[in-house]
Amino acid sequence: MSGALADKSQLRRVTISPLRYPGGKGSLYSRLKSFVRANDLTQGTYVEPYAGGAGAALALLVTGQVQRIVINDLDPAVYAFWSAVVAEPARFTERITKAELTVKEWSRQKELYLDPSADPFELGFATFYLNRTNRSGVLNGGPIGGMDQTGNYKIDARFNKETLTERIRVIGLHARRISVTNTDGIKVIKKHARRPSTFIYADPPYFDKAGSLYLNSFGDDDHAKLAECLNGYADTKWVLTYDNVSQVKDLYSDRRSSLFSLNYSAHRVVKTKEIMVFSDGLVVPPELDEAQG
Ligand SMILES: C[S@@+](CC[C@H](N)C(=O)[O-])C[C@H]1O[C@@H](n2cnc3c(N)ncnc32)[C@H](O)[C@@H]1O
Repeated sequence: MSGALADKSQLRRVTISPLRYPGGKGSLYSRLKSFVRANDLTQGTYVEPYAGGAGAALALLVTGQVQRIVINDLDPAVYAFWSAVVAEPARFTERITKAELTVKEWSRQKELYLDPSADPFELGFATFYLNRTNRSGVLNGGPIGGMDQTGNYKIDARFNKETLTERIRVIGLHARRISVTNTDGIKVIKKHARRPSTFIYADPPYFDKAGSLYLNSFGDDDHAKLAECLNGYADTKWVLTYDNVSQVKDLYSDRRSSLFSLNYSAHRVVKTKEIMVFSDGLVVPPELDEAQG
């Protein structure tokens, strides 16, 4: 285990993802860009097996750092969102423009979100609607401002129609270079790891807190299986991030790793240290592997 990542590389931020994601890694864009460059992967494919808000993936794609991205998430609602946006961006932006930002509409979208037989596009839009109108973007939470809308911020506080439609429009321009899938992250790693010019960034649910933040949480077994899988592909090019707990150091004791800071705001803004683990086959640029001072 070595060093802490330089904070200065976190400064530049490109926000394209329309989703608010607790623990989102859009702020790792600059660092991931450095990995892509140092490993000569600019003509390649960037894969996120646990994509969530896919902030880093989209930033890398639209700024031309990589040619293709794969966005995978096991959560059917998150998958429905990405599928709808990538397949029908114009229809999606129209829905945003016409969206009513009221508690009545929130309740309707919540029902759709919970309806197992909902049309996939409608499920995708309901997921987006709740993500933008719920406290902290947590899908099973309540609306900003409360059901009685007496809070300081109201239900429309994070729903800037112009900004959001612009982000979807930009994603639509790059849609042919985006693959969206809905399978287990390990399957995605196995499928892509040995392909040429492929870079995998795995950001699985955390050891701590995962249960309350995401629809599908990981058990200890899942963490161990993921480690077995990634360690089996140590000679390929991947990066993994986790909360900084001892289990991660144990599971990846043979790999290089580094600590980094992240502004994390599921419930409040705090700076936490997270851990980044590197495959042996990855060139780690010197500025991202600085010794802890
Ligand atoms: C830590 S979040 C990823 C956040 C993402 N990096 C971002 O910037 O928004 C983990 C994601 O993994 C998804 N997930 C949970 N179990 C999974 C599995 N077995 N396979 C694939 N995705 C899974 C969750 O739905 C969640 O969106």
